[in-house]
Amino acid sequence: MSEIRRISLGVDWLDYALMGGVPRGNWLLVTGEPGVGKSILAIQAAGANVDAMPVVFVSTETRFYDVVRQASQFNIDLSDAVSLADVLAGRVKDVKTNLVVIDLFGLARQYRELLRAGGEEEGGKARAKSPLSMEVVLAAIEKAYEVLGVAEEGGRKDVLVVIDSLAPMWAHAPAMARLITYRLRQRLYRPSVTVIMTNQYAPTTGMTFGFGAEHIADAIIHMWFEDVESTREIRRWLIIKKARLTNHYKKAMRYDIEPGRGLVLLEPSIEELRKWYEGNSRGSSGEE
Ligand SMILES: Nc1ncnc2c1ncn2[C@@H]1O[C@H](COP(=O)(O)OP(=O)(O)O)[C@@H](O)[C@H]1O
Ligand SMILES: [Mg+2]
Repeated sequence: MSEIRRISLGVDWLDYALMGGVPRGNWLLVTGEPGVGKSILAIQAAGANVDAMPVVFVSTETRFYDVVRQASQFNIDLSDAVSLADVLAGRVKDVKTNLVVIDLFGLARQYRELLRAGGEEEGGKARAKSPLSMEVVLAAIEKAYEVLGVAEEGGRKDVLVVIDSLAPMWAHAPAMARLITYRLRQRLYRPSVTVIMTNQYAPTTGMTFGFGAEHIADAIIHMWFEDVESTREIRRWLIIKKARLTNHYKKAMRYDIEPGRGLVLLEPSIEELRKWYEGNSRGSSGEE
């Protein structure tokens, strides 16, 4: 049986809960309400893999500078990262990094050129009216692949694509969410490309904004707060709701966010998760 390669999430206990990480080529969706820690998890995952493979980090809600600064608050050094907008504007030449950040604020000015280069504009009529459109994101990701030399080795080189978050891409047309995310999957899918994407979840309506991306996700981590009005403190939980091609821990895990460390497990104990992982690795020798 072929061995499954795994991509670390940069959070040791979550890696245990996923039998070592997300199977390579999977699309992991991280959902939860604002403030629950989706972006921090996305940054930890990027930081954990940047030495091993090219990473494309699409930030639709914060600027390039904020991604790097937020990472440094959790002891993750992303100072080698370059912004795609800076590369396109010629402000960065001779790129020697493994991490390209696509910050859609920074990209706003260049997006027309990007679309033209990708043949997405005909007769002067731009199909995409906003830099937040999926076409712009896809064109930018393809440009980032070029910058990172992903096409070399026949496109078999491992890549991690992080998209934080998806929601703004259908803010103008929530009913289009499913179609937009299908298109994303169609265009971006490759066995060598692992995708981590975040999406907001509105607890008030119980709906992901625009009814989300669950249908294109191979794995789903759902994060939530306990009701703050009754607990009078922040209590965060997460659960792995789904994971293709792998066994996974089935109970909710309580965590906190700590400066310098990121997502920290509170319950169960990390020893319990390690034991669970070791017990299950032995049981599935064909897989590991
Ligand atoms: N430097 C820090 N130290 C400790 N906790 C932090 C730090 N920065 C942010 N947080 C916590 O993380 C939360 C934001 O996490 P974030 O990943 O941005 O949430 P989301 O992306 O799900 O909206 C903040 O509300 C705060 O509680
Ligand atoms: Mg966020």
